[in-house]
Order: sequence, then structure tokens, then C-alpha cells
Amino acid sequence: MNNLMRRAQNVQLWRKYCVKQYTTEAASASLSRGKPNYDEFIGGRQVQAQRSIVVQVSSEKSYSELYNYCSRFGSIVGAHHYCVRHDDDLHYILLEYSTVNEAAAAIDSGAANGDLSGVPVRSPFLWFKAAPGRRGPKLAANTNNNNNSQLPLSDLLSVDGTRQLDQASLLSQLRCAASIEQQVQLLHEHTQLNDLGVRMRFLAALQVQQAISGMFPAAQAHPFGSSVNGFGRMGCDLDLILRFDGETGVRKESDGEPPSRLIYHTKENLSNGRSQTQRHMECFGDMLHLFLPGVCHVRRILQARVPIIKYHHEHLNLEVDLSMSNLSGFYMSELLYMFGQIDQRVRPLTFSIRRWAQACGLTNPSPGRWISNFSLTCLVMYFLQQLRQPILPTIGALVKAAEAKDVRVTEDGINCTFGRDLERVGFQSRNTSSLSELLLQFFEFYSQFDFHNRAISLNEGRQLAKPDHSAMYIVNPLEQLLNVSKNVSLEECERLRIEVRNAAWILESEVENSTLQESERQDESWGLLNLFKHPEKAVIRPNMFFKPRMVEVSDLFEEKQHQQQQQSTTGLSSDG
Ligand code: CTP
Ligand code: MG
Repeated sequence: MNNLMRRAQNVQLWRKYCVKQYTTEAASASLSRGKPNYDEFIGGRQVQAQRSIVVQVSSEKSYSELYNYCSRFGSIVGAHHYCVRHDDDLHYILLEYSTVNEAAAAIDSGAANGDLSGVPVRSPFLWFKAAPGRRGPKLAANTNNNNNSQLPLSDLLSVDGTRQLDQASLLSQLRCAASIEQQVQLLHEHTQLNDLGVRMRFLAALQVQQAISGMFPAAQAHPFGSSVNGFGRMGCDLDLILRFDGETGVRKESDGEPPSRLIYHTKENLSNGRSQTQRHMECFGDMLHLFLPGVCHVRRILQARVPIIKYHHEHLNLEVDLSMSNLSGFYMSELLYMFGQIDQRVRPLTFSIRRWAQACGLTNPSPGRWISNFSLTCLVMYFLQQLRQPILPTIGALVKAAEAKDVRVTEDGINCTFGRDLERVGFQSRNTSSLSELLLQFFEFYSQFDFHNRAISLNEGRQLAKPDHSAMYIVNPLEQLLNVSKNVSLEECERLRIEVRNAAWILESEVENSTLQESERQDESWGLLNLFKHPEKAVIRPNMFFKPRMVEVSDLFEEKQHQQQQQSTTGLSSDG
């Protein structure tokens, strides 16, 4: 009974968190302010997604016709074109309306397509059919020749908004930079997830939420991880947590009504929460696979510590990892977001280190016994905490600054309470080191670090004795009995030590040579570029030595994945 009550209490807390009373104006205002806090950022982006639709068109030239057609539902305040590159490029325009109701009206006007098979599903993903009587392609085509081309629309439209700077152009930009400092900044600027990337990720979340809202009116799908923590790069995956017990979408300011006395009847929960989640996810995986437009390659990975459903979204060109029981991961993203907000050197520095790790093959897009981007980010955060003049506070200091409104406890009792108000936390760094100095210090610090005997605690901002024999031990800040880097093998940890030493050595001589003439710099690789000179290692290594452990989201059975992929395409459940 106690358990039940605690669970109910925790659910209440989670709901309280979710009831963000964002009106459209408040949400937009919080986004346009310089430094929104995490709740404002998430809430603002959610409302922005609700004001948006994504329409497949034949090319960006269809814009004027689309604009004219869609303006009947309301006032269009922004338009973003992007391409999904296949054999043929597929073109999409994300239209942003000024209100949620206008976007809803556009979606509600959607009609079933008589020519195509498939069950019509209400979703923000639509396609723009050619006007009746027009011959040629099905999608409405170039209308530059009609009257609409007179409209001053081009100001609104951003074209090819997800195109990334190709490797050669990026390297050439870095070659032309004036200093290593500037190289670090440029790398961050050119590779970080852009505004359209964030919009698309919140639309993917909204699609899932809306698809089930009829049956689960309280369902909430929240992006977390690198899509929202400020450390995401273009093309990063979307981590999504789906909760059935949160509140739905945008709520109007409370009108002072007492809570309803009519309560929904529910099905009794199974006694085992984990197997219940697995059953729900199995069923949910089928629903995504069978009905949701754009969702393909659905794989169920239900045996991992945090069971997930992976899928590809073909209209967004996006990989999605959906979980239902990883709330601490969601709050961990908030911690990282706050760290990025505290000091403007944190994100650019982390981007350079992640890029270096990728270039020398320390990290790898597939999970395995190498260090993950998340663990590497924790190493950077710890380095910034332990400096003589720290650049980041300890998590313990954030916890001390918590007020009643900061209390968050997940339904499984994990305490994610910490001060959210940075002004109240009141941390001021006196560290004035440049980014190139910090980069060098990072490599020097980890060249010396005793991974063999010591664990890293971001909670305390200091090293601890290692509690077990894992090769690398980073205390999970919110679940302190877990090791974030438990998957890292001894060889991989050793390789990290060798590579940080190499990097320190390279960077030291780069800093000494920083007096090179500008003309010399443009011709040769220098500074940061010399850290990235391992193209032969930056390939995806086969996972033949991969030894899975059921500990973290990232610890997934390759074998299992393969089996599950097969099963999901044949419609069998993973436990099948
Ligand atoms: N997470 C966690 N504990 C772990 C692993 C992950 O709390 N042991 C949380 C973190 O908030 C992390 C998020 O789950 O940011 C998503 O994990 P993952 O996708 O592995 O990392 P990302 O930060 O999203 O980085 P990437 O761009 O490589 O996906
Ligand atoms: Mg991720």
C-alpha cells in the first residue's frame, strides 16, 4: 500500500512538472529570450511544434502555392524547406502558424488520399497534392509562373535547412581561422544542431503523442538527450520518453476550477512494472510500425536495462530511440543543459573533444565497449568542475540550491531534485582560460588520471575510490549506484589514455606554433585540424569483440537487435 501511495505521489509530481501552463505567447517569448531555462525551452519548443505542420512538396518552388493554399487556415509566420536525400531528393516544407488552432485547422482539413492505400492517420505530416485538373506529377509543382510568384514570400522561407557543411568546406573554414580558439568556435557553430533540427525533433515527439491522445489523454512524449541538452550535433538521434501518466500538451492558464470528481476507470496494473512496460512497448511498437506515417524500420529492444523501441522517421530523416521508463535520463539532460548555460565555453569545448574522439575512433555510432558520447561529455564536465578555478559547480551545489518547486522524484523513486534557477545557484567562475588552454588542460588532465583506482563523481566534483573493477567508473549523477561508463572495456580505456596523451603532445606543439603566418595557415593543416588527423580510424569498427552487459541503454545486444529487427519486420514480438 505504501508503495502504491508513493507511486501515486510520484506520478503527481511528474504531472506537476508536466503541467507547464504555456500560452503560445509565453512560449514564443521564452524562446526568443536569450537564455530560456530548460522548462521554458522544452515548453516553448513543444508549443512551436503544435503550431507547425510538415508538408511534402515537389520542390522548394512549390512554396508560393503552398503558402497561398495554407494561408486560408491562419497566418503563416515561418517556413523552412529541407530535403531528405534518397535516389531522388524528397522535399518538405515545415510551415509555422501563429497559433496552435490554426495548425490544427490545417491538419483537420487533411483528406484521405483515394489513390493510395493505407489507413488515414491524423498527424502533422501531410503532402501537397497537385490542384485538380493539373497534369504531371502528383505533388503540387513549381508555380513560379503563376501570379503567386509576386508575393514577397522568400523572406519567410529558409531553403535546404538541414544541409550540413561538407567535410572539405568545414576543414577549409578551420584552416582559415585566426586561432585555435576560433577553430573551436567555428566547429561548434557549423556542426551544432540547428533550429530546424530541433523543430523537426519536437514534431516527431508530437506525432507520437497526438497519435495516441484519443485513448491516452494524459500521454506526453518528451525529447531528451542530445536533441535538447545543447550538446547535439546536426543529424543526432532523437531520444524520446513516452509517459502515459503525464498531462497533455499545452494547457491554458488554470481557470480556478476545482479538480473533477469524475475519475477515469483504469485497468489494474500488472504487479511487475518492468514486464508491464515491456508489454506496453511491444504493443506500441506494433502500432508505430503499422500506422504512423513516416515511421519505418521499427526494432524492439526490450531486454536492455531501459527497454527501447528504435525506428527511422523517413519524412524527417531521423533515428528515434523511444523509451517509457527513463525519467532520470530526461532530468540528466536538464543538468547538461544547465551546465551548457552556465558558461559559454562549455559547449564549444565539448564539441571539439567529441569530434577529436570520433576522429581517432574512440567513439562509434554503434553502442559497444567503447566510451559513449554521453560518458565523454561527463568527463568534460568533471574536468571543468575540478579546475583550481572551477568553470562548473558540482551537482551537490545545485542540489543545495533546490527550492520546493524543484522537487522531482521519478515514479520509481529516483530523486532528481536540484536547483533549477541559476541565479539562485549563484555560481560565478573566475577562470579566464581560453578554449585552447582548456582543451590542452583537458588532455593533460586525463593523461594523468588514475582510471585504474579512481572513480569520477560529478556530484561531488572530486575523485572517489573505485567501488568495483570496471575499467572506467563515472558515478551516474542521478542514480548514484550505477556507473555511466560500465560498458567501457580495459582496452578501450587504455586506448583513451594513449589518445589523450597523443592529443596533449600534438596540441602543445600547435600552441607553440601558433605564431604561423596567415598565408602559411591556409595552406596546411594546423591547430585543431591536427587533432582530427586520423581518418583511417574514424570508420565504424565491426562489433566482433563486443561483449554486452545489461546495464545501460547503450548496452544493447547486437545479436538481439538483429533478431528483433527480423521479428519486427515479420510482425513477431521480441519475446515471441
Ligand atoms: N543517459 C543517462 N545515463 C546513461 C546513458 C544516458 O542518464 N548511462 C541519458 C543522458 O541524459 C543522455 C541521454 O540519456 O543525454 C541519451 O543517451 P544517449 O543517446 O546515449 O546520449 P546523447 O547525450 O543523446 O548523445 P548522442 O548524441 O551520442 O546520442
Ligand atoms: Mg542520443
